[in-house]
Amino acid sequence: PNHYHQHQSVSHHGQNTVGSQSLCTRRELYDRGFPVYKQPVEVGCFSLDSHRRFFNDSRQLRFYVEPDRSPNFNLRDGYKDRFLKRDDGVKERLDHLLRWIKANRSKLSSRLPADSSRDLGVDFVTWRGHLTKLLTTPYETKEGWLLAVTRFRGTWYISEVETEAAQRERMNRTERHEEMMYWGYKFEQYTCADNLHSLPDSGGVVNTNEAFCTVVQTRLADHRLLFSGEVDCRDGDPKAPPPPACYVELKTSAEICTPKQRSNFHRFKLLKWWAQSFLPGVPRVVAGFRDQDGVVVSVETFLISKISQLIKNEYNCWKPTVCMNFCCDFLSLVKRVATEDSHSVVYLFSWEPRRDVTYSVHRDSQYSFLPHWFVEEMTK
Ligand code: A3P
Ligand code: MG
Ligand code: MG
Repeated sequence: PNHYHQHQSVSHHGQNTVGSQSLCTRRELYDRGFPVYKQPVEVGCFSLDSHRRFFNDSRQLRFYVEPDRSPNFNLRDGYKDRFLKRDDGVKERLDHLLRWIKANRSKLSSRLPADSSRDLGVDFVTWRGHLTKLLTTPYETKEGWLLAVTRFRGTWYISEVETEAAQRERMNRTERHEEMMYWGYKFEQYTCADNLHSLPDSGGVVNTNEAFCTVVQTRLADHRLLFSGEVDCRDGDPKAPPPPACYVELKTSAEICTPKQRSNFHRFKLLKWWAQSFLPGVPRVVAGFRDQDGVVVSVETFLISKISQLIKNEYNCWKPTVCMNFCCDFLSLVKRVATEDSHSVVYLFSWEPRRDVTYSVHRDSQYSFLPHWFVEEMTK
C-alpha cells in the first residue's frame, strides 16, 4: 500500500532541429498497474549556507519541534525587517548537485565493476522538483514547463528552463503574493531548531538562501535515478529511523472551512504534497493551516502512505499510478530521443497544458548547462 517496490525523422528550423516524436499527457493513457519504484536510498547530502555557498555535509539540517495543537504562529512577523530573500533571478541549474557528484563520485561508481569508473552508474541526474513537475503533468491545467536534457558519458542530465510565462509571473508578483511566499519559510522557523538540544528561535532572521539537500538513488521501472531535493527538517527524536525515513516536510495551507475547500485541498494541494515527498521517500508532511491574516490556527500531520486513501472519496480525483507511469514514459522518450552523447547538445522538451510533449535540439546554444569544471572532472 505504500507503493514502493521492495527489494525519428526531423525538420530543420535554422540552427535548431525540431523532433518528430511526442508524448500525449491524457490521464487515461497512464491508468495502469503501478510501476516498480524502489525504496529511495540516501547516498549523501549537502548544505547551502546563508550566502548560498556549498558544503558537502549536513550543517543546515534542522530538527522538528512539535508545536501546540493551536499554536497561533503569526507568519507575517518579520517580513519587513527580518527577511533575507534568495535572488530567484539567479539560475543555478544543476550546479550544486554536480558539485556534490564531483566530491562523491567514488561513492557512486564503487557500486560498479572496476573498469567502469567513468560511468556514474545512473541513467538520470536531476532535481527532485523537476520530477515533481513530471509527476503532476497529467493533472496540470495552468503551468507548462521546459526541460533541457543533455546526454553526457551515458547519463542523461535534466535541468529546467524558466518559461516565458513563469518569468512574467515572477517579475509581476503582487505585494500580497510576495509576502505570502514568506509565510511558508516563517512556519519552518517556528517549528525547527538548529540542533537536538535547542528550541526554535522565532525572533531570528529568515534567510531563504539556506538549504539542506538530500541526494537519493532509486529506480523507476528500468530508469536508474539520482536526484536531490531540499529537506525541511528531520524528526527531533534521536532514535528516529535513518534518512530519508526520519525527514519531515513542512507545509502551510489556508484553513479549511467548507466542503468545497476540503475537496480542492484534496484534489490540488495533496497531489503536489504527495508527489514532492513520495519521490525521495519522505514519509510525512506537517501542515500548518492559517487564516487570511497569516495566523496558524491548527497543525496536522499527513502520512504520505495514507494520502491515496484520503482522496479516494473525491470524484474524478488524481491517482498516484497515473503520475508515476507518465513520468516513466517521459523518461523512456528522453532515452529514445536524446541519443547524441555530448556536453554541448541540449534536447529541449517542452509542454503546455492541453498539448503533447514535444522537443527541439540545440547545439552550443544558450541552453547548454553542464559547467566546464564538471565536464573536465568527468573526462579525467
Ligand atoms: P509552503 O509549502 O508552506 O507554501 P517547500 O514547502 O517546498 O519546502 O517550500 C517552502 C516555501 O517556499 C513554501 O512554503 C512557500 O512559501 C515557498 N515556495 C515554494 N515553492 C514556491 C513557489 N513555486 N512559488 C512560491 N512560493 C514557493
Ligand atoms: Mg523546503
Ligand atoms: Mg516545505
